[in-house]
Amino acid sequence: MNLLDGKLVSAKIKEDIKNEASAFTAKSGRKPHLVAILVGNDGGSETYVASKMRNCELVGFESTNIRYHVDVTEDELIAKIKEINQDPNIDGLIVQLPLPKHIDPEKITETIDHRKDVDGFHPINLGRMQRNLPCFIPATPYGIMLMLEHYGIDTAGKKAVVVGRSNIVGSPMSILLARNSNPGNCTVTLTHSRTANLKEEVLAADIIVAAIGRKHFVTADMVKEDAIVIDVGINREESTETKSGFKLYGDVDFEEVSKKSSWITPVPGGVGLMTIVGLLKNTLEAAKGTVY
Ligand code: GUN
Repeated sequence: MNLLDGKLVSAKIKEDIKNEASAFTAKSGRKPHLVAILVGNDGGSETYVASKMRNCELVGFESTNIRYHVDVTEDELIAKIKEINQDPNIDGLIVQLPLPKHIDPEKITETIDHRKDVDGFHPINLGRMQRNLPCFIPATPYGIMLMLEHYGIDTAGKKAVVVGRSNIVGSPMSILLARNSNPGNCTVTLTHSRTANLKEEVLAADIIVAAIGRKHFVTADMVKEDAIVIDVGINREESTETKSGFKLYGDVDFEEVSKKSSWITPVPGGVGLMTIVGLLKNTLEAAKGTVY
């Protein structure tokens, strides 16, 4: 078993981003600037946004967290997004998901100027990604591709099975792995809650991406010998063992699956850290104007 070490890879790439941000600031007289909108007080979302903000500071970006009460109206949120779209001192804007039920996430996503959509969720970015054109790639799949690239893993011709078809991870991941790119050039199966014979599908995979959001869903009996296993799960459970009061579990039963896999990501210390890197890279590109 070889570890796909998110701690090591993210630290290395963040060092590069920091140097590039410093060059950008010296040239332009301002720092790359990311704004994150957070609605309500979901514990997971608060943790993720705080981590995004902290990492912006670490690499020399400016970051602003705008918080709204859970009762904020859709119109209020849309008005704020339109204001940010017009602000030349803001490069990237993300609205943390999930949103409360009375707010339509599709409407919010499409209101964000695609040139500031560093989450890569806008249909223009999604379409351009599918065509292999310059765009913002969703942070988690982007981070996974950077991880595979870092370790020089040859994915061409391999059978990849993605478990979970979310807009944030599973669907864009399936597009990236199938693209004519490196990493990429996989034969991809995108599985979901209605997939028949899921176990057999996953067993046939050379590369498994588990993005279903269920603790230890992928067990050793579902994994082929020497498979490459990417665990996107961040399942939080209350625990007295940790300082934070929470313990994180992946979608993969690491202890058993790691005995069979050739490469595997740990949780924590794997994909989660790479997601931050994907977001920081997109924000830097937005500031530099290299995508749009
Ligand atoms: N919720 C879970 N992951 C993400 C993400 O990458 N971006 C946003 N905006 N919300 C999320």
